[in-house]
Amino acid sequence: PQTGGGKAGKLSFKAIPPNTLDTFVVPNGYDSSVVIRWGDPVVPGAPEFDLGRQTAKRQSQQFGYNNDFVGVLPFEDNRALLVVNHEYTNENLMFPGFTTLDALTVEQIKVAMAAHGLSVVEIERVGRTGEWRPAQGRRLRYNKRITALETVFKLTGPVVGTAAVKTAADPKGQWVIGTLNNCAGGVTPWGTVLSGEENFNQYFVGGDAVAEADKPKLARYGISTTARYPSDSRKWDRAQERFDLAKHPNEANRFGWIVEVDPFDPEAPPRKHTAMGRFKHEGANVIVAKSGHVVAYMGDDERFDYLYKFVSDKKIMKGNSPAARKHNLSILESGTLYVAQVTGDSPAAEIDGTGKLPADGAFDGTGKWIKLVSGTRSFVPGMTAADVLTWTRQAGDAVKATKMDRPEDVQPSLLTGKIYAAMTNNTNRAVGTNPGVDEANPRSANKHGHIFEITEDKGDHTGESFTWTLPIVCGDPAAADTYFGGYDKTAVSPISCPDNVAFDSAGNLWISTDGNALGTNDGLFATPIEGSERGHLRQFLTVPRGAETCGPFITSDDKSVFVAVQHPGEITGASVEKPASTWPDGDYAKPAVVVTWRLDGRPVGS
Ligand code: FEO
Ligand code: CA
Ligand code: CA
Ligand code: CA
Repeated sequence: PQTGGGKAGKLSFKAIPPNTLDTFVVPNGYDSSVVIRWGDPVVPGAPEFDLGRQTAKRQSQQFGYNNDFVGVLPFEDNRALLVVNHEYTNENLMFPGFTTLDALTVEQIKVAMAAHGLSVVEIERVGRTGEWRPAQGRRLRYNKRITALETVFKLTGPVVGTAAVKTAADPKGQWVIGTLNNCAGGVTPWGTVLSGEENFNQYFVGGDAVAEADKPKLARYGISTTARYPSDSRKWDRAQERFDLAKHPNEANRFGWIVEVDPFDPEAPPRKHTAMGRFKHEGANVIVAKSGHVVAYMGDDERFDYLYKFVSDKKIMKGNSPAARKHNLSILESGTLYVAQVTGDSPAAEIDGTGKLPADGAFDGTGKWIKLVSGTRSFVPGMTAADVLTWTRQAGDAVKATKMDRPEDVQPSLLTGKIYAAMTNNTNRAVGTNPGVDEANPRSANKHGHIFEITEDKGDHTGESFTWTLPIVCGDPAAADTYFGGYDKTAVSPISCPDNVAFDSAGNLWISTDGNALGTNDGLFATPIEGSERGHLRQFLTVPRGAETCGPFITSDDKSVFVAVQHPGEITGASVEKPASTWPDGDYAKPAVVVTWRLDGRPVGS
């Protein structure tokens, strides 16, 4: 995950134009190929995909649905482990003859559960190019599936054994079956993957029947406390009773965590780290502070929710010795959790909701990291440490954290130490009785989102104060309410709804989008973020119809750009029989991971 070895410099590709094509488009001089798609065998001996014969057992051995996070962890020359999240399922695009969720068989619900989770897949480079494919002709000792159906997770940290996570199946509050709605994530310097459990609320029913005192707690996390069957519910209680909160009121408290997976130890149980708090975790990305402590930056993806950071108690142990690895694997189990409160430096009257820059020429200001909990000590009046970690949103409310425009992926640049957060959009900002604009969220009914850049004071990632600015305010560059780092707006690509961010080894910022409100397909963009080219944003690829662009991941040699094409063909009314997208195989839509490389074999930025 650390930079080095790459030769990327100034970005040289020619931007591709916005389009609505049902295909995967890359710049001239580049090529792309599908690495792995929904249903492809993962576990050794897995059956080939057969749409009409799908079972939970088969799906549990095959690549899952709706790939989101992508991590590529090298372990030998030209070999790597591809680790991918499977966030959710589109049953209408998975099952022939689909009518309604209620009409699914229990076996089909279990297929969907098995299509959630993560996949670990050994991949190999093709020749000397930037192309990669699943490893062939070897014993695949690392390949595995982690599912919502049956994989056992270990809970770590201060919430273990507390009342809120105890259930009939787990009376000691130590083990959880499955992971839900794994969205973005990150790779750690010790070779593990972090994954965020995001919209876990949609899997539960029966929130109307819990104790009155618990209802506000569930409601703050989006679980209906008035209807037995909320309109967005997947009704998994039909397959496993634990998803019925009327019978198992604490089961929902066992989701919404940061998950850590060690792909190099297939026998080790994946873990859920309670010290990192519980919310609709988009993901987590770490940087090692000068002091050696590990700092994770995290977003809670909901309109008007918060930005967080976690600072470990322990310092990282350098090297790859078994002792160092064992030590580092425990680093995220204890630490201090902070939430961000930001202030603008321009007069409030100059932030008028239109996106017009204030007189000082920037949406910018200062910020504080407010300490919520450290180990077992709470800093929030009226809440225990376990309360703060389990009901982290309420803790953020209590200390008046800043309500942001849907914080998605948050990632530090390992070159500059600055942190970049995608605020994807917030169409409710300053609408009706909702909170109004502020300098960090300066547009009312924010359709297109923006990028939030944090510079920690004195470059200290463990510190409690920072400055911030908005380097990119997304949308149509021809519109007055957009900003591209001060760069010539006639030379940049339109961008809408930034979701995931990543860096190449030269520190260029790569941004993928979800939900392009400009009416064209989603895609991946890149821009230098330092110097005179700051804000020179260009579109690198587009994904097929109905899809969002996830990942992205640029290998450390800058020769390969991986993205996950999530939910191709997700358009109202689409089905297996009437697909809105036929990508990637020409029949019906399948989520897939794609790699893009330069035909001349050189790094993407050279
Ligand atoms: Fe799963 Fe916030 O995107
Ligand atoms: Ca300002
Ligand atoms: Ca996302
Ligand atoms: Ca990222």
